[in-house]
Amino acid sequence: MVNPDSELVKRRTVLGWSVGAVITAISGTMATLIGGAILAPVRSRAAGRAIDLGPAGDLADGVPREVTLRVEREDGYQRVVEQRTVYLVKAGAEVRALSATCTHLGCRIAWDSAGKEFRCPCHGGRFDAQGRVTGGPPPRPLDTVPTRIDGDRILIDLA
Ligand code: FES
Repeated sequence: MVNPDSELVKRRTVLGWSVGAVITAISGTMATLIGGAILAPVRSRAAGRAIDLGPAGDLADGVPREVTLRVEREDGYQRVVEQRTVYLVKAGAEVRALSATCTHLGCRIAWDSAGKEFRCPCHGGRFDAQGRVTGGPPPRPLDTVPTRIDGDRILIDLA
């Protein structure tokens, strides 16, 4: 029979506590890392913000103006800088921001001021100044990015 006050029992007890403490520390660290990885994209999506694109009065009616946005966002534990190009199009009191990404396979469109239309260099897609498809394979109009006018300033909302 083993004496509960013996050195062997005391060492086993201390060793048991030590192993338990190490397992608890590892579990806590893993939970923090996994929880952070799961929640980080949600946080970055929720952190919507507006970018000032200047005065609406500077835009001519029906003439798209190209704007390149520099967007910083957090992706997991990294800070990522993306460039997004949109075309601002004024129609009366309304200003729309059209994505410069073709809705067919994602090539970048460009405004053809002579033809007064957007053209896609990849497969000949064409869009009018409001982003509606006028020719080629694109299946739908250009995407829009939410904008609003605050005073005379054009603000674009990024998610
Ligand atoms: S990617 Fe634009 S037409 Fe195909």
